[in-house]
Amino acid sequence: MKRVRKDEDCFEVRFKRHADELKWLYTELYDNEAMFSELCARLRDFYEERSEELKSRDREREQYPDWYKGNDLLGMMFYVDNFAGNLRGVEQKLSYLEQCHVNYIHLMPLLDTPQGRSDGGYAVADFRKVQEKLGTMEDLERLTAACHQKKMNVCIDFVMNHTSEDHEWAVKARQGDGEYMSRYFFFDNEELPRRYEETVPQVFPTTAPGNFTWLPEIGHFVMTSFYPYQWDLNYRNPRVFNEMMYNFLYLVNRGIDIMRIDAVPYIWKELGTSCRNLQEVHTIVRMLRMICEIVCPSVLLLGEVVMEPEKVAPYFGTVEKPECHMLYNVTTMATTWHTVATRNVSLLKRQLDIVNSLPKEYVFLNYLRCHDDIGWGLDYETLRRDGMEERAHKQYLNDYFQGLTGASNSRGELYNSDPLSGDARFCGTTASMCGIEKAGFENDADAMERAIRLDVTLHAYMFMQSGIPVLYSGDEMGQVNDYTYKENPEKAQDSRYIHRGAMDWELVKRISDPATVQGKLFSQLNRLEQLRKEEKVFVSGAEVWTVETWDPALLCIGRYYEGEKLLGIFNFSEQDRTAWINETDGDYVDLISGTKRAAAGVDIPAYGFCYLKKEEEA
Ligand code: GLC
Repeated sequence: MKRVRKDEDCFEVRFKRHADELKWLYTELYDNEAMFSELCARLRDFYEERSEELKSRDREREQYPDWYKGNDLLGMMFYVDNFAGNLRGVEQKLSYLEQCHVNYIHLMPLLDTPQGRSDGGYAVADFRKVQEKLGTMEDLERLTAACHQKKMNVCIDFVMNHTSEDHEWAVKARQGDGEYMSRYFFFDNEELPRRYEETVPQVFPTTAPGNFTWLPEIGHFVMTSFYPYQWDLNYRNPRVFNEMMYNFLYLVNRGIDIMRIDAVPYIWKELGTSCRNLQEVHTIVRMLRMICEIVCPSVLLLGEVVMEPEKVAPYFGTVEKPECHMLYNVTTMATTWHTVATRNVSLLKRQLDIVNSLPKEYVFLNYLRCHDDIGWGLDYETLRRDGMEERAHKQYLNDYFQGLTGASNSRGELYNSDPLSGDARFCGTTASMCGIEKAGFENDADAMERAIRLDVTLHAYMFMQSGIPVLYSGDEMGQVNDYTYKENPEKAQDSRYIHRGAMDWELVKRISDPATVQGKLFSQLNRLEQLRKEEKVFVSGAEVWTVETWDPALLCIGRYYEGEKLLGIFNFSEQDRTAWINETDGDYVDLISGTKRAAAGVDIPAYGFCYLKKEEEA
């Protein structure tokens, strides 16, 4: 009895804290008292439905709201079927994930989706049902509980911009039911779609051109920014907002810790604009954040904003009115691969300086590869000053990573190559982009050593950044591109499947054999993962800066936290080089070899790196 009282107080206290602002923002968008009251009542229902375990997780994390800003989190993202067949299978593999030091798993879309029209699961037909081949909601709950036992966090996607055309609402809308049509964007003639097209860019210009799809059976266009089977939801309708919030809360109550808000910049549309990043998007994300803080404060919001830094940062909101907890460090990721192709760190150094100057409250998700293509979103204004034009440079990068030009050992494929704009994006796994696929194919031992070294160095560099590193499944042991998608007509058109292959558990058997590629990579990454968790200097709140090395191919990053200082030096070229740094403030130790080393005139082997830690004064 007492316990229930305490819980109720919890909800009340949290609700009161946000009630005014929530009402204000809701009224600003919807001005609908009845719908607002309904929302508030449902928040309480979802709170009450939340399990005691999750509620105590909420209370713990509320006490320690910076819990995700340390140096102890390491993520891995994977497709449930590729990784382990189904959700029960993932449960069996938790010890492997522990072996990888992973304590945050991102399960790629696993909700009900029509086969062949699923966009990798990003076309959701039912937000409350797991894809049959992967298991059931109970399996998901079992898995999250098992993960929590092992102190692991679970992330899934919340695809809020659109539903599948097979979703119940879409089915009714297609039958002409006005109530459901108003949950999407329907037009009975081409006038408005045409006007939208004048200002709205295209997401998939080749695989799904245009932003509208004609539905002959009801004589209407429907807005489809992504694939024609993904219908954009109309958040001007408060019913859409409320119901999607209920779906969100239903899912977090299954034990989800991190919600990836898919394609969030797109959720509000306005004629005459690009329909991206509009102010109302921020209003909605802010409301979502408050709803989390009221019902499930242990849950983090990870925003998917694959755009330039000026557009990404606003999604953190402000200190008083935060929005997302975490965002992808996307420009840094793309700039990293630009650096691999050019062997010139100047743009990356500049990019890191920008990120490092942002408030320390901002937490970035750092990564080398994810399930999507690389979009070459670089700072072209700066590149232009160095004589590199956007179109020609993109062409160079795409040629380079296809292995067609320069001293490239990369393998991979173009994505959505648009002949009109000359634009194309790129797909491939980290290992293939580093040369492991080519060296293996050509049976070239020296080339393989170099490729492994580059792969390890890129991870060492990624771990040097503040935030949460997330590995792409398979990268821990150098899994290469998978070309079998071409044989599957449902996937053949979408080259992103080249890096969405099934996990090769035969290769995993080799991770403890130091003579194998897998063993070499796994053991070296393992050491880095350990170091990152051991050394306090990796926490998000550390000071981070770049140091001039006077060599265009060498990047040096410094970190400082409570008396500890670490320098990381990374060689992006295939030649041995010297970093002409001169840090004379004390003695340094090479963290990998354990030997003493001066932080001056540091020799770094081809594609190698070193972590130099300043010795503590006695
Ligand atoms: C996000 C996903 C991508 C998907 C798109 C549409 O960008 O990362 O894979 O195609 O949303 O939902």
